[in-house]
Amino acid sequence: MSVKHIFFAGVMLLVSQGVMAAQCEIALVGNDAMQFDKKEVTVDAGCNEYVLKLVHAGKLPKSSMGHNVVISKESDKKAVAIAGMNAGATKSFVSDDMKVIAHTKLLGGGEKTEIKFAGAKLVKGESYVYFCTFPGHFAMMTGTLIVK
Ligand code: CO
Repeated sequence: MSVKHIFFAGVMLLVSQGVMAAQCEIALVGNDAMQFDKKEVTVDAGCNEYVLKLVHAGKLPKSSMGHNVVISKESDKKAVAIAGMNAGATKSFVSDDMKVIAHTKLLGGGEKTEIKFAGAKLVKGESYVYFCTFPGHFAMMTGTLIVK
């Protein structure tokens, strides 16, 4: 093999890895202004598992500016948000509901967390959303989760 061939093979390897690497991570940052850094996240269908990451980049405590990430179908969002609020602080504002597809724990400023959930829980073509269920946050701290 010539140097040119080896170089070409290397480039093709990099290209194929870039194309083949499935997007299986959902990474969000929350702040003290009650916002997530993204309004939309796209992941690939068919991942073995998904990783859900949350960073609270603010300084305010969990009791006044708590953030979590809950994932549900778009059609279940309101019910999940209300059930979460009713579940209260001791349950970190997440109800034991089948409609909750995945959720992180509740964070205060400066904290971060990461969870994994089964790939089979997200189906291509379904409409999903992510949101924070701390009381009063779900309308502003929310976004669309696209599974393509
Ligand atoms: Co929040």
